[in-house]
Amino acid sequence: MEADPVRLSLKSGASSLCDILIEEGLLGRIDANLHSLLGSNPSSITIITDSNLKKQYGETLSRELSKRTRTGLISFSAGERHKTFATVTFILARLASLKVDRKGVVICLGGGVVGDLGGFVSSIYKRGITYFQVPTTLLAQVDSSIGGKTGVDALWGKNQIGTFYHPRGVFIDPLSLDTLPRSELINGLGEIIKYSVIANRSLFDKLSNSTMNSVAELKQFIPECCRIKVRVVSMDEREENLRSVLNYGHTVGHAIEAASDYSLTHGKSVILGMFAEGWIAKELGFFEGNDFEKQEVLLRKFKLGSFSNLNKRSLLRYALADKKSSSGVIMMSLPEKIGKMHTTEGGSYRIPVPQELFKGSIEYLRNLN
Ligand SMILES: NC(=O)c1ccc[n+]([C@@H]2O[C@H](COP(=O)([O-])OP(=O)(O)OC[C@H]3O[C@@H](n4cnc5c(N)ncnc54)[C@H](O)[C@@H]3O)[C@@H](O)[C@H]2O)c1
Repeated sequence: MEADPVRLSLKSGASSLCDILIEEGLLGRIDANLHSLLGSNPSSITIITDSNLKKQYGETLSRELSKRTRTGLISFSAGERHKTFATVTFILARLASLKVDRKGVVICLGGGVVGDLGGFVSSIYKRGITYFQVPTTLLAQVDSSIGGKTGVDALWGKNQIGTFYHPRGVFIDPLSLDTLPRSELINGLGEIIKYSVIANRSLFDKLSNSTMNSVAELKQFIPECCRIKVRVVSMDEREENLRSVLNYGHTVGHAIEAASDYSLTHGKSVILGMFAEGWIAKELGFFEGNDFEKQEVLLRKFKLGSFSNLNKRSLLRYALADKKSSSGVIMMSLPEKIGKMHTTEGGSYRIPVPQELFKGSIEYLRNLN
């Protein structure tokens, strides 16, 4: 971990969208940082968190903030299965009963589920109120808390309902990872590997040479991942083209996650997705030299088990419902080499993938062991 605090600014053109602060111990200094970004005292602060984190972090933060501002704490049952519109409705009603007005602010305290859902609630409550992200999982610290994608899952697929709505600030305290169950680290690691393949070969080499299982080792990758995300989102906030590179591994990944009824986590599904989409890139002749094999060696370190029961037809249905797909054509962002994504002659990062090739990639996953 870089010893000094890291401060990044996410911009769109000349306007600043969001400040990101990465600093050990930051969780104990949220009040001062939040007020310094806001410049004035909000009418209220409401923390949205999940049932696992309410006691562990929520109540302490709430006590701290309430010294200066009227503070509320709302929690919902932890887990992807609760990232639904029903939970959104529940939280909206709680905000109303806490009499949160348009000058009230929300803090999303938790992993990507809390961040996506709390961000979505903030974007629609009274047509949008200011919110902050305080991510506490590796996945949320390197990825989901930045970039303003908010939303919930629907019966017909993952993240199908949502908005683009940036938090005013993202406060990342890597020390909070010390309480994260080790089984959750793999989810963040999937996204870290994604960043290395799409944009940073030396990060890929560092990962290949690391054991990838010590929190201390993983913390050092947080700033670089945030820098890549900030750079990509600043250049293409609304995902017209370049931002789709951040979805590498996610078309197959989201389909697997939804088809498993969310029993398989997002991070693990994305790792499988990178296996499959890397294979598609190789079959299309994009993935240069032996870079596909190098990616395979790195991903195999996870020993994810057997996936011989993946159902091609069901996965195809989810992939066709993916937000990037259009008019029955599956679109993906695919690597050209480690550290660089492929573009079409017209400069598009979205590559059409024939359905047969998609099914072939699932067959490849079924035979992985
Ligand atoms: N918006 C985006 O750009 C974006 C990008 C990537 C992923 N996502 C979304 O992120 C979600 C996955 O996020 P996640 O992996 O963080 O899952 P999560 O939010 O479900 O958190 C995982 C578990 O860890 C617990 N936890 C969180 N922080 C902890 C801590 N410090 N100590 C102990 N326990 C802790 C949580 O209570 C939960 O049980 C998915 O819904 C995915 O779609 C969004």
